[in-house]
Amino acid sequence: MSVRDLLQGKPLGMPLHVAIVHFPIALFTLSVVLDVAGFAGGGSAVVRGAEYTLLFGLIGAALAAVPGFADYTSIRRDHPARATATWHMALNLTSVVLYAVSLGLRWGRFDEQRAPVWPFALSVIGLVVMGVSGYLGGELVYADGIGVGRHRRRAPMPQRTITVDAAAADATGFVPIASVDAISDGKTARVDVGGTVMTLVRVNGEVCAFQEFCTHRCGPLSEGSVEDGQIRCPWHNSRFDVRSGKVTHGPAKVDLKVYETQVRDGQVWVRAGAPSTTSPAPGVAAREQRPSAGSERPEAGTDDDAKVHPERHLPSTSPIELEGRRPE
Ligand code: FES
Repeated sequence: MSVRDLLQGKPLGMPLHVAIVHFPIALFTLSVVLDVAGFAGGGSAVVRGAEYTLLFGLIGAALAAVPGFADYTSIRRDHPARATATWHMALNLTSVVLYAVSLGLRWGRFDEQRAPVWPFALSVIGLVVMGVSGYLGGELVYADGIGVGRHRRRAPMPQRTITVDAAAADATGFVPIASVDAISDGKTARVDVGGTVMTLVRVNGEVCAFQEFCTHRCGPLSEGSVEDGQIRCPWHNSRFDVRSGKVTHGPAKVDLKVYETQVRDGQVWVRAGAPSTTSPAPGVAAREQRPSAGSERPEAGTDDDAKVHPERHLPSTSPIELEGRRPE
């Protein structure tokens, strides 16, 4: 288990950043409430309480920042949520600095009957900035699925995308992807063939390929786990048969699009175009074909959210990042 796994809360079975971050948010909010109570005549005890809640809020923010940064570093560089996460982090840091300055300016003035005006103003601004940041944090989880299921993931996920030029296709439409040995049994690989993003898995020596994005809410299947010939979506645990693409467990209702694969002289080849309706040729790795054609993107109509905002779920493809796996 890696340090990042620890920081993301894998041993505890819960996302650590989300579990901790409530405390600094509550403490910072309480300090502003106490400031207001001080202005309303609450006295020095209330003013003192505001200072201590600020102090503990800053300690909590420092603790929450560590797993939060671990979550941030696990977001794929080509994921559209990366920019939102960067804003989330920058705004959090800004609000923490505002609270730290607020505390520094008021610290030690325990006998005051009300909070000093400027530190109070900084705390209020910090609260607004923290609110905007919290909204972005919600977007990251609920809209973009960042961090969802990461703490339960059992296998390492591919960090890189194997990018292949579709022009490399032979007369039958197959493109060479990588050496079959480069795809470990039971592990996933993410492949981009001319803008068609797919997940490759090797199960009992057989290489299977299917669309990258889950038909439920576009979870990245290359980040899922392979179990008993099925791929489990990392977001809401839908499962699909890796050979047929068929749903074996919801909430997804629509099957995955699968791609025909071949192994030629130890090299994996994939046909990235529309799925074939013919039986695989002799020597072709056994693949079950789905009759319906569809785009490489998730099927429209599977989910209202994905239908309304498909673009926000679909990472752009990244430049060639293949490390020692690029086909000749
Ligand atoms: S996105 Fe895959 S199960 Fe929800």
